[in-house]
Amino acid sequence: MSVVRGKVALITGGESGIGLATARLFVAEGARVHLVGLDEARLAAAVEELGAANAFGSVADVTDEAAVREATRLGVDRYGRYDVVLSNAGTSGEVAKIVDYPADVFTRTLHVHVLGAFHVLKHAIPHVPDGGSIIITSSVVGLIGFGDLSAYVAAKHGQVGLMRSAAKELAGRRIRVNTLHPGPTSTTFQDDIEMRATRLDRETAAKTFDGIIPLGRHSTPEEIAQAALYLASDASAMVTSSTFAIDGGMSG
Ligand SMILES: NC(=O)c1ccc[n+]([C@@H]2O[C@H](COP(=O)([O-])OP(=O)(O)OC[C@H]3O[C@@H](n4cnc5c(N)ncnc54)[C@H](O)[C@@H]3O)[C@@H](O)[C@H]2O)c1
Repeated sequence: MSVVRGKVALITGGESGIGLATARLFVAEGARVHLVGLDEARLAAAVEELGAANAFGSVADVTDEAAVREATRLGVDRYGRYDVVLSNAGTSGEVAKIVDYPADVFTRTLHVHVLGAFHVLKHAIPHVPDGGSIIITSSVVGLIGFGDLSAYVAAKHGQVGLMRSAAKELAGRRIRVNTLHPGPTSTTFQDDIEMRATRLDRETAAKTFDGIIPLGRHSTPEEIAQAALYLASDASAMVTSSTFAIDGGMSG
C-alpha cells in the first residue's frame, strides 16, 4: 500500500530539480500534486508528463504574497485541501565575500527562501487538515556554514527558525513541520553554484565538491524525493521540528 495514495501535495519550485523529482515520486505513489513556480513552460511540461488528472501548475513568485494567496486559492478550488506542503522554491544568490556582497541580492535571496516559505505556509496552513505534513527544503548549509554564500546560508538557516515556529504552532492539530537538508545534489541549480564557486568546468567542479562529502558523491534529486516521501507519509507521524539531513555526512 502506497504511503501517500490519495494525498494532495503543494510543491513550490515544482517545475524542476528536487521539486519535480518529488512530484514524480508522489504521483507514482498515487498522490496528486499542485506545482507552483516561476517558469510557465516548464510547469506545463511537468503537468503534461505527470498527467492532467494528477497534476496542475500555477505561476507564482513566492515573494509576492498576493500571487501565493491566489495560487493556493486555485489549488484549493481544484483539490479541496493540501495534505502535504513542500516549500521548495529557491535561488542561490551571489557567490561573493560578505564585504563584496550586493545588499539587493542578499535581500532578494532572503526573501525567496524565508519570506517565500512564510507566504506559502501562511496561505496553505488553513487548508492543511489535521495530521498533515509541511516540509521546507533547506540545505546542508542550513546546518553548517559555508564561505562566499552568506545570503544563501543565512536564508537556509532562517528557514529552520520558521520551521520550528510552525511545528510548535501546529502540533495541537498533529500537523508536522520539518526541514529537509540536502547536500550537493545533481541539478542545474547546484552545477551553477559549483562552477561559480570554483571557477572550474562542471565536471571538475563536481569532483571538487565530491571531495567534501564523506560519502564521496552528490545526492540525486530522487534520493531527496525519497526523504520527502517519508516526511510526507504517516510513517513519520512522530517526526516534527526535525532537521533531516540527506547530505552524505557533510553536516556531521
Ligand atoms: N541542488 C542542490 O544541491 C540543493 C542542495 C540543498 C538545497 N537545495 C534547495 O533545494 C530547492 C530546489 O533546488 P533545486 O536544486 O531543485 O534547483 P532548481 O533550480 O531546479 O529548483 C528551484 C525551483 O524554484 C523555483 N523558484 C525560484 N525562485 C522562485 C520564486 N521566487 N518563486 C517561485 N518559484 C521560484 C524555480 O523556478 C525552480 O523551479 C531549493 O530551495 C534549493 O535551495 C538544493
